[in-house]
Amino acid sequence: MQKILVVDDEEVNRELLRGILEDNYTVVTAEDGENALRKLQEHPDETAAILLDLQMPNADGFAVIAEMKSKGWISRIPVLVITAEKNVAIENRCLELGVSDFIHKPFEASIVRSRVKNTIELFNCKKQLEQKVEEQAVTLERQSQIIQMLSEAKPFLKLMMEYRSAIMEVETRLNVLNMVFSEEYKRNPFESIKSRLKSPESISKKLERKGYSYTLENIKEHVSDVAGLRVICSFPDDIYRLADLLIGQDDIILLRSKDYIKSPKPNGYRSLHLILSVPLFLPDEKKYMKVEVQFRTIAMDFWASLEHKLRYKKDDIDGADEIGLQLKSCADSIEVLDYQMQEIRDRIYGSGE
Ligand code: GTP
Ligand code: MG
Repeated sequence: MQKILVVDDEEVNRELLRGILEDNYTVVTAEDGENALRKLQEHPDETAAILLDLQMPNADGFAVIAEMKSKGWISRIPVLVITAEKNVAIENRCLELGVSDFIHKPFEASIVRSRVKNTIELFNCKKQLEQKVEEQAVTLERQSQIIQMLSEAKPFLKLMMEYRSAIMEVETRLNVLNMVFSEEYKRNPFESIKSRLKSPESISKKLERKGYSYTLENIKEHVSDVAGLRVICSFPDDIYRLADLLIGQDDIILLRSKDYIKSPKPNGYRSLHLILSVPLFLPDEKKYMKVEVQFRTIAMDFWASLEHKLRYKKDDIDGADEIGLQLKSCADSIEVLDYQMQEIRDRIYGSGE
């Protein structure tokens, strides 16, 4: 049976109402507002309705309603106010505060039962409707987030596809040069090519570091190494020959070049970096994409891989500074070694080819 809380300071009224309702409900009573609130506090969700007198000692009916409002109970439990006389101003005030209905004294048993029953039913319908609307709002919100994500993901995936295509374009051009070169001179100008598309996380981190927000425009404008290739050559002069041949192609634009071979970094890093703008022929347009190409010798690459690890582990490694010095000395040896190997090559093949 559903629980009804009857709040009235006069025992006669409480007992009268108990008598009218107890066949259909479990009736709990309270003789003042404070007691009523205490009982509500114990079981706020088990109470199906409250029958509330307005004039009582220790917190009157209005105080009970105010407290119910502040606790959010007024929208979960219907309140029927017990009144002696019909007072329009008071009833209006009650309705404004969220009261559901009124029960007038003297009590007419059948009317009391009907009012309580109807109020509880109506209130439950309203609660169920509100819950449905809330559920639908959540579903709608989730759907709109997915639509938003999809509409943003599609252009991003398209841009990444274009960078991937630009990598393929440069890789093909380098492979063509390698083939022609090896046909003519019986050796390859590069050993291997490594390529990578920058991950969304790395792109986002780089933009953040540079102080830009994560937009497609900012990626295109401010991240020049989304498409990256590393060309590993045997000898230093192959690096310049290949780079010149690539830059010399009449539809490739050299945007930036950093020659860390002629001017090595203080740590000993040596490589040639080019930022190129490469044409891409898409179904409906010709588009230029930025590609970063790093050229280094096998020995420089070997060195850079190890030095890269030191960079990321610096804080966890004992004697990182000393390792840095050792690496610098290795870089110097590698420089000597690279040119010695080149000299030996020239003596074997004859220079000037
Ligand atoms: P990033 O923001 O790191 O791309 O640097 P940057 O925009 O100043 O360009 P830079 O041409 O100096 O470096 C580009 C890339 O070359 C780096 O992302 C690294 O992959 C590589 N690189 C540059 N300096 C070093 C170095 O000292 N050691 C190693 N191992 N790699 C380096
Ligand atoms: Mg980079």
